[in-house]
Amino acid sequence: MDLTGKTSLVTGAAGGIGLATARLLARTGAFVVATDVDERGLAALAAELGASVTTVTGDVSSPDDVRRMVGAAVTERGRLDIAVANAGIIPLSTVVETSPEDWDRVMAVDGRGMFLTCKYAIEIMLGHGGGAIVCVSSISGVAGQHGQAAYGPAKFVATGLTKHLAVEWAAHGIRVNAVAPGTIRTARVKELGDEPGGREYLATMAAAHPLGRLGEPEEVAEAIVFLASPAASFITGAVLPVDGGYLAR
Ligand SMILES: NC(=O)c1ccc[n+]([C@@H]2O[C@H](COP(=O)([O-])OP(=O)(O)OC[C@H]3O[C@@H](n4cnc5c(N)ncnc54)[C@H](O)[C@@H]3O)[C@@H](O)[C@H]2O)c1
Repeated sequence: MDLTGKTSLVTGAAGGIGLATARLLARTGAFVVATDVDERGLAALAAELGASVTTVTGDVSSPDDVRRMVGAAVTERGRLDIAVANAGIIPLSTVVETSPEDWDRVMAVDGRGMFLTCKYAIEIMLGHGGGAIVCVSSISGVAGQHGQAAYGPAKFVATGLTKHLAVEWAAHGIRVNAVAPGTIRTARVKELGDEPGGREYLATMAAAHPLGRLGEPEEVAEAIVFLASPAASFITGAVLPVDGGYLAR
């Protein structure tokens, strides 16, 4: 994959899947606007990637912050070719345990944040003939799960935006796709192993994926960068499971 000359934006780039994606985009030659609420994480990434990255600290649920993130691509490179709408929080609770405030919070970050990232990215992409957007959904944005009464519906926003925006903007050269990761071994998921009942939970989750293990952030990044690249030039509106076969059952 050679993305030399492309300008990309990754939200939630300080950790997990976003960090792996920012690293892979830089390795393939793209310039990366890395954004997150985690300023220290972004500073570490900037030190690692050097001139191939610029960072913007901000919250994806804030329209002003997302405009600043997208604006940085224009300031630095005059264009935005690739946007990865990845930032998200993962609260797990049943509908009885979920308060109205919990619902609003996850919808603000995972729902509205993804909407704002797509909206302001598309406004820029329209000015130079197109681009590619990848939304990070989840198996929970495709199929029902236990204990994900607010998070699951928020991930359906990512899946829904992908399909609707793909149709809305195809004629303008903008492709919109999504990945639907299964359970991925990010730092937070690894920590679960040290919590009471965590080892058993992770073993159950691994067994639920037909490949018999959890995924790695780098495996999701590979799929994201493929969908964002010219290798996927005839793919739009797709939701690609990166789930070890979870959704195939
Ligand atoms: N880890 C999994 O098993 C898994 C599975 C399916 C989908 N996903 C999705 O992948 C995406 C990334 O999750 P992850 O697992 O890498 O999590 P993570 O917590 O490791 O990384 C998420 C990043 O987003 C940032 N972030 C959180 N709220 C933000 C906000 N309001 N504005 C800007 N940045 C914010 C965090 O600081 C963090 O750096 C999420 O959309 C999540 O729903 C994760």
